[in-house]
Amino acid sequence: MKFKNLRTGVLPDISIRSAESVFILNMEPLKELFLAALTLSIVFLTILWYKLTSHKEESRLPPGPRGLPIVGFLPFLRTNLHHQLTELSQQYGPIYKLWLGSKLCVVLNSPSLAKEVVRDQDSIFANRDPPIAGLVGTYGGLDIGFSPYGSYWRDMRKVFVREMLSNKNLEACYSLRRHEVRKTIRNVHTKIGNPVDIGELAFVTEMNVVISIIFGSKFVEETEKLSTDGTEFRELVMKYGQVVGKPNISDFFPMLARFDLQGILKEMEALLKLFDSILDPAISECMKMLSDRREGEIQRNEKKHLIQILLELMEQKDIGISLDLVKIKAILVDIVIGGTDTTITTVEWVMSELLNNPEIMSKVQQELKHVVGMNNIVEESHLPNLHYLDAVIKETLRLHPALPLLLPKRPSQSAIVGGYTIPEGTKVFLNVYAIHRDPQVWESPLEFQPERFLSHSTNFDYAGNNMKYLPFGSGRRICAGIPLAEKMLMFILASLLHSFDWKLPEGEIVDLSEGFGLVLKKSEALGHPYSQVTEFQAISVKPRNYKDLDMIFIISEYVF
Ligand code: HEM
Repeated sequence: MKFKNLRTGVLPDISIRSAESVFILNMEPLKELFLAALTLSIVFLTILWYKLTSHKEESRLPPGPRGLPIVGFLPFLRTNLHHQLTELSQQYGPIYKLWLGSKLCVVLNSPSLAKEVVRDQDSIFANRDPPIAGLVGTYGGLDIGFSPYGSYWRDMRKVFVREMLSNKNLEACYSLRRHEVRKTIRNVHTKIGNPVDIGELAFVTEMNVVISIIFGSKFVEETEKLSTDGTEFRELVMKYGQVVGKPNISDFFPMLARFDLQGILKEMEALLKLFDSILDPAISECMKMLSDRREGEIQRNEKKHLIQILLELMEQKDIGISLDLVKIKAILVDIVIGGTDTTITTVEWVMSELLNNPEIMSKVQQELKHVVGMNNIVEESHLPNLHYLDAVIKETLRLHPALPLLLPKRPSQSAIVGGYTIPEGTKVFLNVYAIHRDPQVWESPLEFQPERFLSHSTNFDYAGNNMKYLPFGSGRRICAGIPLAEKMLMFILASLLHSFDWKLPEGEIVDLSEGFGLVLKKSEALGHPYSQVTEFQAISVKPRNYKDLDMIFIISEYVF
């Protein structure tokens, strides 16, 4: 292409390339200016960043990696946050800080620091720092887990612990738990000779128990109908944990939250919609049933489902708490999603450790033989005598705590911990994963040794009194579902291990690497029929006692 000289009418020999070079020549000063401006801006922003992060309190803040201007340590975050935070503790000590975007985070990695936070200054650190996805997923933080420390949280927790999960209520719904666990045993029996997905089994059992104690067993059948084999509901629960646990730019740069750059908020809204579509009809049905009953005769001492308790409390105006349907659904999120994901993941980890340690599995089975007997089936009354199984579960929760960083805390005022200042509003991670694997705290910490929990000299329970062992947290915000979690873990595992022998193919071991999300998961599902089933994953299962299974079937016929 040629350009005509307008004055002479002669075509000069200037090609497009020479025109470009003229343009470039003309732009050169501008380019230099731009570069100078860019350099100046970077220098200015860096100085500003250092100024902002090096204010007076900085010298009293814990040490830690500085990261980059503006974004801090964010670009260096890896998917398994608890691994990385544990590695950093080896470099910076038991207390250190990180800037994640504009958010100051402090990580605590030792029992003595844990004590300062959950014992000595618990009222300051009982506040939460929920991620935006968690707030959206709990109808604006109306649940127990993410609501701020204060009277609303206290009232909701009281309802949950005293009214819903009281010993009396848990005893009253034992038959529902038994019914669901037996169904699972029957289900495993149909799979003998085929690979078994223990996660799926545990999920269906736990979810059905939870749904039946909330809504009654009739609704279990309804939800089972909702998705052909429960997988859709399982996906919802799993996805929920992943979405809440995903690092979200909106949490680290609140001014960007409205743009939802990663689409996490949108994802959570869609999940909540799905959750609503399951819960709403069930709640309406219960309300209708309650009003029909009220018109008839209400039986005295009638066994109540949790939803019934909540709906009745909603109508009582004089109990000091104003419940409404949204708050009720927020509580149900904690039970249905929070409680299920943690429990089934723990069942999977226990089974993985036992498959890798067959001699320990055999000790568990010996104990079951002794306590339950081979011509019998496991009942909840046997559970307090299964000390070795209890130690196996405790050891599993030491190595694989379901929430390795607990739920992050946010001090309601500035506080001193380990001699350092933790300013109000900091995100505080209590790194239980690091404490549970610290060689200064535990002997041979990476070895699976349930025996360490059998010694009477050390008292390790789930109450969070011993700061070396905190799988359920500690202090005011300790897990509110421990009584149900403990019963379910023991009951499901005792039943699976009493009725069947579980074995990996010769020479194989279960991959114990961890996946990503709020709840610490195995990266490979155990014998998942939907994943590529390799020989490695194909866990063979064999009945331990035919009489036992015969009896199960007789009782199953009777119960169902
Ligand atoms: C193996 C099973 C479970 C494990 C390992 C577990 C662990 C935890 C942990 C570590 C926390 C946070 C504690 C803290 O930040 O200090 C928590 C909170 C909570 N858990 Fe669990 N949990 C389990 C099962 C359950 C179940 C079955 C339920 C309900 C029925 C439940 C309900 C809750 C609630 C409501 C909270 C929030 C407590 C609060 O903020 O006041 N959990 N859980």
